[in-house]
Amino acid sequence: MECERWVEEAARLFASARSLPEIEDLKARFLGRHGVVTEALRGLSELPLEERRAQGARINAAKREIEELLQGARRRLQEEALTKALAAEVVDVTLPGRRRGGGAAHPVMETIARVEAIFRALGFEVADGPEIEDDWHNFTALNTPADHPARSMHDTFYVADSEGMVLRTHTSPVQIRAMRAHVAVGGNETELRVVAPGRVYRVDSDATHSPMFHQVEGLWVGREVSFAHLKGVVTAFLTAFFAGEEVRVRFRPSFFPFTEPSAEIDVQFTEGESAGRWLEVAGCGMVHPQVLANGGFDPARVRGFAFGFGVDRLAMLRYRVSDLRLFFENDVRFLTQFE
Ligand code: PHE
Repeated sequence: MECERWVEEAARLFASARSLPEIEDLKARFLGRHGVVTEALRGLSELPLEERRAQGARINAAKREIEELLQGARRRLQEEALTKALAAEVVDVTLPGRRRGGGAAHPVMETIARVEAIFRALGFEVADGPEIEDDWHNFTALNTPADHPARSMHDTFYVADSEGMVLRTHTSPVQIRAMRAHVAVGGNETELRVVAPGRVYRVDSDATHSPMFHQVEGLWVGREVSFAHLKGVVTAFLTAFFAGEEVRVRFRPSFFPFTEPSAEIDVQFTEGESAGRWLEVAGCGMVHPQVLANGGFDPARVRGFAFGFGVDRLAMLRYRVSDLRLFFENDVRFLTQFE
């Protein structure tokens, strides 16, 4: 009978339908205004009465079955879509919630804060100066002659189209600036203690050198200041900085145009892969009389000592980092270790 064939056909077609539009097309084909079922119902009026009843009941039964098939197919497709979506967006409710990272100070900034705190406790004030410095403050006032190698292009970044401006190669120009500022405001003529942390620049790059790095300058001007005081202050600082840790410190004779005598300060790693290796952490010495004079002090009345620590080197020792460049790559996986 025709009605049964429609139901069979509808069952087969709905079962293989893969999308909602396909199902809507099938619905139109059977139940739509020109669908086979609708047309058959319309044709009933042409039949004799007794046949019309029996045929009408059959067609309506087929219509109900096809409607059920349609609902079933819709449900099936919706469920399939849902299952697919769920599989695609698996949510593991047991994972910890996502929090916004708190952020933290960079280990080098942390180190600067630590160094400042220790020197403040020793009676030093904190000063600073510009990173783009003039030739006079960076070199001349610090007794560095025109032919000194530090002035060469392959050691120093010069600022193009400027009159001798450089990216400061050390924090020592702040010695000059701090002395002159102190003298200019009529400060104590025989006493000044400052530290000056900041960024400095040199044409240099390897595991212990970066073209940009940090120093903290120290200067103590006083009437009776001696090399013994320099050693005392530096040792007190290092002891406080490496609180409770075993560090070995040595002063190695050296040369700087702006100090006389001069030394370099080395710290020895006691643990880890670098154990036994000495790392240079500072230059220091007694301030050259000419430098005191350039700062506005009377070298006949005062003496001074100065030092310049490599802050990044101190951070390397403290955090046992063997490559300086890690501090400046800003890889969050590295930095979050110091939070
Ligand atoms: N400015 C020197 C440098 O950068 C370090 C230093 C500072 C040496 C103060 C003596 C006194 O190498």
